Amino acid sequence: MNEVVKLERRDVIAIVTVNSPPVNALSAAVRGGIFDCIKSAIADPEVQAIVLTCAGRTFIAGADITEFGKPPKPPGLAEVLLAMENSPKPIIAAIHGTALGGGLEVALACHFRVATRDARLGLPEVKLGLLPGAGGTQRLPRAVGPELAVKMIVGGDPISASDALKHGLIEEIVEGPASGGESFARKVLAEKRPLRKLRDDDSKLAAARADRSIFTNAVAALTKKARGLEAPFAAADAVGAAIDLPFDEGLKKEREGFLKLVASDQSKAQRYAFFSEREAAKIAGVPEGTKPRNVERVAIIGAGTMGGGIAMSFANAGIPVTLIETGEEQLKRGMGVMQKNYEATAARGGIPADAPAKRMGLITGKVGLENVRDADLIIEAVFETMAIKKEVFTALDKYAKPGAVLASNTSYLNIDEIAKVTKRPQDVLGMHFFSPANVMKLCEIVRADKTAPDALTTAVAVARKIAKVPAVVGVCDGFVGNRMLAQRGKQSEKLLFEGALPQQVDAVVTKFGMPMGPFAMSDLAGLDIGWRSRQDRGIKSEIADALCEAGRFGQKTGKGYYKYEAGSRSALPDPEVEKLIDETLQRLGRKKRVVSDDEILERMMYPMINEGARILEEKVAARPSDIDVIWLYGYGWPIYRGGPMFYADQVGLKHIADRLSYYARETNDPSLEPSPLLKRLAAEGKTFASLTQSAKAA
Ligand code: CAA
Ligand code: NAI
Repeated sequence: MNEVVKLERRDVIAIVTVNSPPVNALSAAVRGGIFDCIKSAIADPEVQAIVLTCAGRTFIAGADITEFGKPPKPPGLAEVLLAMENSPKPIIAAIHGTALGGGLEVALACHFRVATRDARLGLPEVKLGLLPGAGGTQRLPRAVGPELAVKMIVGGDPISASDALKHGLIEEIVEGPASGGESFARKVLAEKRPLRKLRDDDSKLAAARADRSIFTNAVAALTKKARGLEAPFAAADAVGAAIDLPFDEGLKKEREGFLKLVASDQSKAQRYAFFSEREAAKIAGVPEGTKPRNVERVAIIGAGTMGGGIAMSFANAGIPVTLIETGEEQLKRGMGVMQKNYEATAARGGIPADAPAKRMGLITGKVGLENVRDADLIIEAVFETMAIKKEVFTALDKYAKPGAVLASNTSYLNIDEIAKVTKRPQDVLGMHFFSPANVMKLCEIVRADKTAPDALTTAVAVARKIAKVPAVVGVCDGFVGNRMLAQRGKQSEKLLFEGALPQQVDAVVTKFGMPMGPFAMSDLAGLDIGWRSRQDRGIKSEIADALCEAGRFGQKTGKGYYKYEAGSRSALPDPEVEKLIDETLQRLGRKKRVVSDDEILERMMYPMINEGARILEEKVAARPSDIDVIWLYGYGWPIYRGGPMFYADQVGLKHIADRLSYYARETNDPSLEPSPLLKRLAAEGKTFASLTQSAKAA
């Protein structure tokens, strides 16, 4: 019918096939093609049933996200779905891969659905700051009941084909989508099954209509963690409308909610994050088609906090790992921590009861570096000391098989220097995971001077395979994330010397949407580490030092910038800390002033953005969106604010540059002066995003 949707007939069955790579998204051409094919099959007197299926790797994976925010092109999806649901001939959706968003909504407008065993079905719109806008909030509750529907719509996670079968979302599990769809269609005809129009079937709504608390309780549990986000609440309201209103009125309510969200700043930021994450996997300057090396076995050196978490990430993905330590005792401790961690997750219901044994079965503990011999990828996670790292890499050069990728998980150290001690610097790079490594999704892939392109693509591919979000960065102190964070740390400390309190600074940062403020974070990490390192380097930080001298090392001693009740992690403001700060300021002859929340926010954010601009200038990050990905997935930056560089563009670079100059003067800190790149963009009225646009155009 058109270049992306075709219609064929196998005697009385019409097969409509969508073929629009990569994911059969519902572009205008796909919508138009489906519309025309369905109309034509309905009009064809020979056709008795219609199968809608897809070619390639997946069923329709949703609306074409690139079309959002642009003038709508006809036909609208609602119009297509209406024609399908009103078809006098049965339409069967035959699903494989993922039926997501608008894709599942298309399937819900069909009269029957079948799916292959590995298919997944879901309405993930909420993850893009949206709600399903083409009947999903009205038809899904009618298909599976409001409790599961609201879980799928507000949570956004897809369900498996077997769960879909269990809950009545599909009729059958089939072998191949097109052939399975066709035989199911013949069955429908032979059995003269009545057309099942979900719009007319309220049977699964009855329980929630009689007792709305079933629904309200499910919503309350789901939205508990949705702090700051608009979409989960709007999506829950739309599902509520399915319970409270007739179908067509519910549809109208859903549409209103969708249109409001699609124009919102939050959804724009979340859509930007979706594409930024995918963009980050494309490595600048690597020849196209560079194939990653084969990685079947991984070795991790050091079974401490990070090594253990990294090993778990691999085991979670089914990849066997050898975990290497210096002695049996350290090994036993490391293996024990992982075991306990898995068991706690299983006890909470986070993983199946047999998962701890299965996953631990993939992790083999060994003593001695010679055990790296089989590994295709070796990740070093030993103490953060250059001399020790060099020792380990010298040994790796001796034991690792040729072509193995050698990665360091260092937080700050120079990978070029580490690579130099080996005879194969082309195989050396950084894979900087974030703590807790089995939870945090970010992996900064550090490209050293001599890193080979296929070593880089290997690290990126492996990171994706273990469900991490990779972002390639260059060598510098702290790479991208920690280097920017250091700027925030500097300001938060200075703010205490000017009259702000830890709880005031942290409150501003968490109100902005970060999961933790800088002082609560320091308490969690432990204040003694920085103190020791300052002592080694002969540096002073009067307030932090005074806290440590008073034995306040953070959460581990029950006292730090805050106090903690026994067994609790909740940070309580402590008058003793206020007193200690006052005394320190008096001793130093510092005058306190009232610091406004606005000033705190600017001084927490703008110096980091300024550092981000320097990072771009130095080409340590290739794109502003890579920096945003790092903050979203490594530091809990609120997704609805897109990331620091996206946020900066929203605020306006001129304002940020002006404020930085102001603070540089007022606080007598020339390091706050806007970087040359920020200054230039501000003067030209441009954004950080313009850098990527002009790079693409070049
Ligand atoms: N629109 C446009 N492009 C899309 C897209 C979409 N819905 N989904 C994926 N793509 C693009 C990606 O940007 C990527 O492009 P590049 O190769 O140029 O980077 C390509 O398709 C492949 O995507 P992935 O790398 O993510 O491939 P994957 O195999 O890892 O995952 C997927 C496939 C599970 C479908 C994943 O892409 C995904 O989750 N997509 C989004 C699904 C979604 O959110 N759908 C709802 C859309 S909103 C909606 O439908 C509103 C409505 O109610 C009408
Ligand atoms: P850790 O102290 O918890 O663990 C280090 C482990 O390495 C110890 O168990 C030690 O016995 C082992 N080890 C030391 N030398 C070894 C050798 N030669 N061979 C085998 N094992 C050896 O340290 P942590 O926190 O896990 O840090 C490890 C690395 O990860 C450091 O480079 C650190 O900078 C980095 N990192 C740490 C993060 C954190 O939040 N803890 C976050 C990101 C990176």
